[in-house]
Amino acid sequence: MDLRLLLFYFLFLPSALGHFPSSVSHDVSCLLEFKKGILSDPSGLVISSWTPPQPPESNHSGAAAPACPSSWNGVSCDASGADVVSVFLDGLGLRGEIKFATLAGMRSLRELSLSGNFLTGRLVPALGSLASLHRLDLSGNLFYGPIPGRIAELWSLVHLNLSCNDFSGDFPTGFQNLLGLKELDLRSNGLRGHIGLVLSHMRNVEYLDLSGNEFYGGLLMESRNLSSLANAVKYANLSSNKLSGSFFSSDSLRLFRNLEVLDVGYNQLSGELPSFDSLRNLKTLRAGKNQLSGLIPEELFRSTMSLTELDLSGNRFTGKYVTFCIPLHMI
Ligand SMILES: *[C@@H]1O[C@H](CO)[C@@H](O)[C@H](O)[C@H]1NC(C)=O
Ligand SMILES: *[C@@H]1O[C@H](CO)[C@@H](O)[C@H](O)[C@H]1NC(C)=O
Ligand SMILES: *[C@@H]1O[C@H](CO)[C@@H](O)[C@H](O)[C@H]1NC(C)=O
Ligand SMILES: *[C@@H]1O[C@H](CO)[C@@H](O)[C@H](O)[C@H]1NC(C)=O
Repeated sequence: MDLRLLLFYFLFLPSALGHFPSSVSHDVSCLLEFKKGILSDPSGLVISSWTPPQPPESNHSGAAAPACPSSWNGVSCDASGADVVSVFLDGLGLRGEIKFATLAGMRSLRELSLSGNFLTGRLVPALGSLASLHRLDLSGNLFYGPIPGRIAELWSLVHLNLSCNDFSGDFPTGFQNLLGLKELDLRSNGLRGHIGLVLSHMRNVEYLDLSGNEFYGGLLMESRNLSSLANAVKYANLSSNKLSGSFFSSDSLRLFRNLEVLDVGYNQLSGELPSFDSLRNLKTLRAGKNQLSGLIPEELFRSTMSLTELDLSGNRFTGKYVTFCIPLHMI
């Protein structure tokens, strides 16, 4: 070997190696920072097992510490043992304030699930850097503040559940980029936004729960703005919001070819209902507690429909079916 090359190796290689994290991997240092936010852990599962791995110096065999701490409760590693792919800490009664910025840069993280704890904190734009995230479930906690727009950079996202928290502010734009998003559950928060705009940004969402928020506006939209969502959605729950104005037009409603459940109850929708003739898969329709008027569409009572539950109570309908409507359940 060329002497200069040898000299180069001797002089520079050790220092180059020195730039690698000396004892813990990037993922481990992120999770150790994340753990600092957990102030109370009644089961002891997280605090006790999430301890820094022994530095390699203490092991005379010279083997490096494994990059992914597979012995930590709730942490799963990829097949090579190098990266953390999942953090699952559901229902442990954890309390504290999560600093989501600590997780930025966990490039292989596919799942983050903290559902059913007493955790608080705000989402930060840096969450948008979790490029591999498929599943984000923060439901049933005390998280608050707006949903940052950079969440729309999570292109791998399939399942987003932020339900039952205190999220507020305007629904972010950019959801039209989340082509893989199949389940979006934002139930019971304080989120705002024009429902027409929100629905027109949905692409392939099959399960959509926006109930119990402050979405406003009517459902009368241009069909082309609704066609992506209408093609995909099976479950749509828009109940208990501040919707007002008209229901979907006949032309739009016809596009919802896969729709099985539609709940728009507890809003202030007015005007007449369109024809439901083409919605052959519709099993549940709830539109109770609105200001809808006119005749109840007759096809809702035909056996050609799959309808098993109908609630149109608390409206201003007229005509021959009206006496059945306070409330009407057909099983
Ligand atoms: C040292 O590393 C080897 C190989 O990874 C492992 O089997 C052994 O348990 C380690 N010993 C200690 C004291 O950590
Ligand atoms: C979201 O989380 C809540 C509470 O944990 C759960 O009941 C609900 O089924 C979840 N939504 C979806 C779409 O899985
Ligand atoms: C829609 O959501 C509300 C409250 O969030 C819930 O009570 C209702 O059962 C849901 N509707 C359907 C049809 O699942
Ligand atoms: C439909 O989409 C177009 C273009 O994106 C927009 O300009 C228009 O306001 C939308 N219409 C409704 C009713 O949302």
